Amino acid sequence: MSANTVETVRTVNALRDVVRAWRRAGETIGLVPTMGALHDGHLGLVRAAQARCDRVIVTLFVNPKQFDRPEELSVYPRGEAEDTAKLAPLGVDLLFAPGVDVMYPANFATTVSVVGVSEGLCGGDRPGHFDGVATVVTKLFLQSLPDAAFFGEKDFQQLQVIRRFATDLEIPVEVVGVETVRAPSGLALSSRNAYLNAEQWEIAPALYRSLIETAKRIVAGENVSSALSEGVRRVIGAGFDSVDYFEFRDVATLKPTAALETPSRLLAAAWLGPARLIDNVAVVPLDLKGCL
Ligand code: PAF
Repeated sequence: MSANTVETVRTVNALRDVVRAWRRAGETIGLVPTMGALHDGHLGLVRAAQARCDRVIVTLFVNPKQFDRPEELSVYPRGEAEDTAKLAPLGVDLLFAPGVDVMYPANFATTVSVVGVSEGLCGGDRPGHFDGVATVVTKLFLQSLPDAAFFGEKDFQQLQVIRRFATDLEIPVEVVGVETVRAPSGLALSSRNAYLNAEQWEIAPALYRSLIETAKRIVAGENVSSALSEGVRRVIGAGFDSVDYFEFRDVATLKPTAALETPSRLLAAAWLGPARLIDNVAVVPLDLKGCL
């Protein structure tokens, strides 16, 4: 392959042929599932996969089953040539870019559905979203059978949903969470940032700042509910239009928690103009900090 291209396959048989040859050579395989519109956050996932595995497959599939609003699917940014140009210099070994007919042939009738961790937060106002994610990622795991798969911590609830079904279904793939990549302002990199105008770019980092400030207050012993209210006030005060959620949850179960007793996570989603931005930060009790 030249430095400007990545070997691309579009069928499951072609994918499995390549994987079989790597396996015969004793090589380990890392998988980086994406929906394209690649940014430095995705490239960070590729680098994390390359650090751990001999071969790296990136998948590019805009999964219709995880869009609860058809209008979002129709405007979702698509540009395989641009995405390939970003992956080629990294030396990605294979791009799997199936069509909808390959992933969901006629008569496809199966849904992977996870309860518990998928409820509330982003699952609350996006019915069917995590069923769509769980179904497509299960398929990608079984199609490629990698040793490990890499997902960004920015989509923390998605990461926990994927961990849950991989454990429950005993799919022998290690699910690796990779730290969120941020702009120098602290803003989490996301395909949705492309919807922001110049003024909104200045406002957007306030979501992360507010999460960090709220985490500090909770660690310092402030009442969780008042720290959360203050966090929301700061986000709106900075210029966001509305807050979908700003919550404090147990890190493993994602159940609401009223006090900092176990490793926890602050998670938020807020609207800024046309973009619904999400972010989250870890909150660890001081006495556990050294143990993690
Ligand atoms: O995070 C994403 O880009 C998607 O939800 C994923 C994991 C590729 C499944 O379509």
